Amino acid sequence: TRPDPCSFVIFGVTGDLAHRLVIPALYNLAANHLLPEKFCLVGIARKAMSSDELRDGLMKGLHQYATRAVDDAIAQRLLGCLTCIEADPNDPASFDAMSKRLDELEAAQQTGGNRLFYLATPPNAFLPISRELGRTGMLKENGSWRRLVIEKPFGTDLASARELNSELLKIVDEHQIYRIDHYLGKETVQNILVLRFANGMFEPIWNRNHIDHIQITVDEKIGVGHRGSFYDVTGALRDMVPNHLFQLLSLVAMEPPAKFDAHAVRSEKAEVLAAIQTQTEEEALRNSVRGQYRAGRVGDTEIDDYRKTPDVKPGSNTETYAALKLTIDNWRWAGVPFYLRTGKALGVKRTEIAIKFKQAPFAMFRDTPVDRLSQNYLIISTEPTEGIALQFNTKVPGPNINIDGVEMKFRYKDYFKTEPSTGYETLIYDCMIGDNILFQRADSVEAGWQAVQPFLDAWKKAAARGLKVYEPGSEGPEEANELMERDGRSWRKLG
Ligand code: BG6
Repeated sequence: TRPDPCSFVIFGVTGDLAHRLVIPALYNLAANHLLPEKFCLVGIARKAMSSDELRDGLMKGLHQYATRAVDDAIAQRLLGCLTCIEADPNDPASFDAMSKRLDELEAAQQTGGNRLFYLATPPNAFLPISRELGRTGMLKENGSWRRLVIEKPFGTDLASARELNSELLKIVDEHQIYRIDHYLGKETVQNILVLRFANGMFEPIWNRNHIDHIQITVDEKIGVGHRGSFYDVTGALRDMVPNHLFQLLSLVAMEPPAKFDAHAVRSEKAEVLAAIQTQTEEEALRNSVRGQYRAGRVGDTEIDDYRKTPDVKPGSNTETYAALKLTIDNWRWAGVPFYLRTGKALGVKRTEIAIKFKQAPFAMFRDTPVDRLSQNYLIISTEPTEGIALQFNTKVPGPNINIDGVEMKFRYKDYFKTEPSTGYETLIYDCMIGDNILFQRADSVEAGWQAVQPFLDAWKKAAARGLKVYEPGSEGPEEANELMERDGRSWRKLG
């Protein structure tokens, strides 16, 4: 069904996010008849720019980044109605003018005053823009809805995340804020809830009695490239863990919500994140590995030494790889470690959650030649394949009892015809229909930062001490293996 009539107002419309993801996602929604009948697309630019000029730029971007062949009629219908408004939060008068202009546009288009403000801007603009939107009354809901969409990073540590949330909540109500984590736009990630709670066979064994440990891996092949100025003050931990990896962790580890609605689901997610044991700095050092890549190759691609990346401080100690061991202090997970790792310039792009079940007592097969004994893993992955796999042991055919590990695989592409997408379609559609189940609530964001804060503090103090180097194209620093081996465990090998 189509959402209610509304205006879709994009701040930062001349930037990368708008061109690469937001407009192509709107285009895909338009092509699937999932945009409102009455729709007002507005771009906010800080510099003077005509609507035609903006439209041309976005049209070019659409042709470059669209995930399917662009149908000119649909693109025209989407961008033909685009209006560019000039506004700068440092110039309050421009926001007053913008407010009037939006009222006029909406009266003409009969959108009924529903508005979504999408902040596709750098994070330091979130508050200045929101404050101006608040001051001019543009966020007041008077029979119509008003929503604010923001993207990570939500703060850079616990204190700044709390500050950002509390300042935003002075301006808008929590139900109006849509904090995007694009991992929740991924089908396989949403499917974790269905896998766990729509099937009878997994949930009874989804606990410390049957699960030995859980591994979450988000490895990337790309280096930092042209994002040096952002990345060098951010690092792998901040960039990936409290947001993306914790989304995966919370869906896998949460208790069953009483019903499938935003309040129940988001409360359980926040609850399990808050149960991650807060480590002392000493424990954090022992339970973590951080690495930085040097010059080398990933496949055919040359990768520069991280410290020689444009806009990275020479001698920088920022980590491009992080591995952590966490524990969750609750009844279900007591004694079950969660091992997390993520890094750039690694050999394979891989995003997976591997649930390792406890070993069977092997007494019965004690004397059996074990060729390639497998461990019992359930693997939920989005990269390199989207799907779910189950690893178990089986008998090799033949007169002797030999055991080999095999894999049972479900791949999305074998069962469903999915259209290539940007991953933002569902998220944007949900913002328009007012379903915030896939968006982060303030308490989850803060619980995430709370859990990583000891690592941030300990690493900052340790500076260069403990920073390991690794080769591009590898699996990361050797010490990450030691983190597991110390516990008699190992990272799951691919293939
Ligand atoms: C972003 C990070 O949020 O997620 C990037 O800022 C990272 O550094 C990206 O590359 C990874 O997303 P995906 O969907 O490719 O796993």
